[in-house]
Amino acid sequence: MRWRQKAVIQKVCALTPGGGALYQQIQRRFGRLSDDPFRRLPQHAAMMRRLTGLGFTLPGTRCLEIGTGHLPVAPVAFWLLGAAEVVTVDLHRRLNAALTGAMLRRLATDDRLVPLYDGLILDDRLMELRGLLGRPVPEILRRLNIRYHAPGDVSRMPDADGSFDLSFSMTVLEHVTPDALRGLLAEARRLLGPDGFAAHLIDPGDHFAHQDPAITRINFLRFSPREWRRLGGNEFSYCNRLRASQLERAFTDAGFHIERCERTVDEPSRAALEAGFPLHAGFRGFAPADLCTTELEVYARPASAAGALPGSPPGSAAGAPPVGAHGQRRGGGENGRAREQHAP
Ligand SMILES: C[S@@+](CC[C@H](N)C(=O)[O-])C[C@H]1O[C@@H](n2cnc3c(N)ncnc32)[C@H](O)[C@@H]1O
Repeated sequence: MRWRQKAVIQKVCALTPGGGALYQQIQRRFGRLSDDPFRRLPQHAAMMRRLTGLGFTLPGTRCLEIGTGHLPVAPVAFWLLGAAEVVTVDLHRRLNAALTGAMLRRLATDDRLVPLYDGLILDDRLMELRGLLGRPVPEILRRLNIRYHAPGDVSRMPDADGSFDLSFSMTVLEHVTPDALRGLLAEARRLLGPDGFAAHLIDPGDHFAHQDPAITRINFLRFSPREWRRLGGNEFSYCNRLRASQLERAFTDAGFHIERCERTVDEPSRAALEAGFPLHAGFRGFAPADLCTTELEVYARPASAAGALPGSPPGSAAGAPPVGAHGQRRGGGENGRAREQHAP
């Protein structure tokens, strides 16, 4: 589907009463909404591997997910890996019980699951989940100690300071306004214990390019803020267009110290830039790798625990140039994408 058609459909659904259910049906039929957990699990398994590499131990922890969406794939995976409790919160009550039931069946019975997590899935928990298949979804989630709060706002949580060990999100932070992002990260920081970790997977690319091969992942950077608001300023298409360095900076400003960042730079976008892509003036001050980062993983800890100054980007002093300038290339292109990693 051409991206402008999709933009119109999203706008119409956003303006229609009950448009959320209508848009979910359209996504199910023509889009990427499916009960297949393996669309999301490889990214989650990578997140788990990186957290383990940073010294985080999951078993027995209390975890907070920001933005559940339609399917609680990550909360179930964290429970299978040993989390004591996962609280998952969403502004909108989007969790789809029928899709979730089907997703749980696929997750619990697919042989790819255990190797994907390097054998770390707990046998007794997997057996318990298998024994629950077919039960009503709210009952299964209760038995797995997954608490779904929706509508709920992660920037206003009732829980005590330091009451979570891990906060995480998957493709959420690019969808909130810069102001909302500040509030959300400040609250996530408050809720995290001194030894806690934050893990966030962010997609800063143009989401319309997921379905329209005629445009690149930086296509939306050609528009002025006003034009972009008109095209994508609704509940279903909103993306803040913050570049990777700005997203990283939001973490340090909120009192986190970034332990590790993984950036995936989209090579076709970089080639388009070199060929004269018409960037809007507001984006011209960014480095090409910053503009073309289309996948960003941020792993952070409370700055107080890490002994770092709030406001310092990873590995540099406060006030240093945008983080885009100091990524280290790690390996070559992979499906037209190059990965960069930097850590202090
Ligand atoms: C694009 S969806 C991603 C959902 C899911 N994590 C996934 O990977 O499919 C983003 C979700 O974040 C939710 N969200 C945005 N801001 C939030 C906030 N302050 N508190 C809780 N949920 C929020 C939105 O309602 C939306 O359902």
